[in-house]
Amino acid sequence: MKAIVVTDRAAGTAGLRLTERPEPSAAINDVIVEIYASGFVSTELDWPSTWTDRAGRDRTPSIPGHELAGVVTAFGYGTTGLSLGQRVFGLADWHRDGTLADYVAIEARNLSPLPGDVDFTVGASLPISGLTAWQGLFQHGRLRAGQAVLAHGAAGAVGTMVTQLAREAGAYVIGTGRRADREKALDFGAHEFFNLENDALEGVGKVDLVFDVIGGDVQKRSASLLRAGGTLVSVVGPVAARPADGLAVDFVVEADRAQLSEIVQRVRDGRLRTNIGTTTPIDDAVSTLTSTERRKGKTVIRVRP
Ligand SMILES: NC(=O)c1ccc[n+]([C@@H]2O[C@H](COP(=O)([O-])OP(=O)(O)OC[C@H]3O[C@@H](n4cnc5c(N)ncnc54)[C@H](OP(=O)(O)O)[C@@H]3O)[C@@H](O)[C@H]2O)c1
Repeated sequence: MKAIVVTDRAAGTAGLRLTERPEPSAAINDVIVEIYASGFVSTELDWPSTWTDRAGRDRTPSIPGHELAGVVTAFGYGTTGLSLGQRVFGLADWHRDGTLADYVAIEARNLSPLPGDVDFTVGASLPISGLTAWQGLFQHGRLRAGQAVLAHGAAGAVGTMVTQLAREAGAYVIGTGRRADREKALDFGAHEFFNLENDALEGVGKVDLVFDVIGGDVQKRSASLLRAGGTLVSVVGPVAARPADGLAVDFVVEADRAQLSEIVQRVRDGRLRTNIGTTTPIDDAVSTLTSTERRKGKTVIRVRP
């Protein structure tokens, strides 16, 4: 099958190569999915799971990409819950070959049905940003109506999801980003916008939840904005500055069928918009993904037309 692989950890995206790989076989509780669209996040090339299996053994050449939308074509031993020919979308295991390929072997529980009126491109854009926002706000941040959320990077892939879901849940959302991000953040539903390039973050006032996708100094300064009992949620690694009277949580997003279904239902009824910046066919994906040009929003790779 056609697949994009990486073999050289030091090479970054310059190491991406389109090649032929054997088709995967389905293990216990797996399905094989014929992939129509795939999502790729460049930071995954820094994660150890791209290079080793769970036992720490080299697993290169590895196929990156962990978001997918496609059609179930085969079952592993004992797999239940999905049917042959079913449209699905979901989040593939970090330690296994991913979704920049014609087919992937994936545990059925990591997938959710993709309704017929949701395009594969849209389906592949949702798992990482949608689940990250959902888990950060509702599981780890325990967001409640009436609370104030500081949504960093509010025009980005995760940030636009955080903004929309928090607002729908009845929170007051203060989005942040660069000057040029203001309109997009407000368009996705932020009540107000803070320009991190100019405005003093301390002017935000007190918030109940900080959703951090940036880290560093921005994170440090944000910790002091939390009200007593508030939560700093980070998706960019361990929190360096712990809030004086609150919680700090850093986490890696997990697959969750029920949450995926909540997310796609919101896309269907218009409560949630995805933030796709670039769509590229797999044959052109290496040049798109290695380009140094800054891409805004999600990049989706069309594996089949
Ligand atoms: N732990 C997890 O499970 C998990 C899950 C998803 C994502 N992540 C991580 O979260 C981060 C964000 O992901 P994403 O997909 O949302 O990326 P993204 O689409 O690039 O969004 C990030 C946004 O933040 C802005 N930004 C970054 N640094 C900034 C700064 N210093 N000042 C002002 N604005 C800044 C970016 O603007 P520019 O484009 O102009 O820089 C962009 O609008 C990545 O590091 C990703 O690896 C982690």
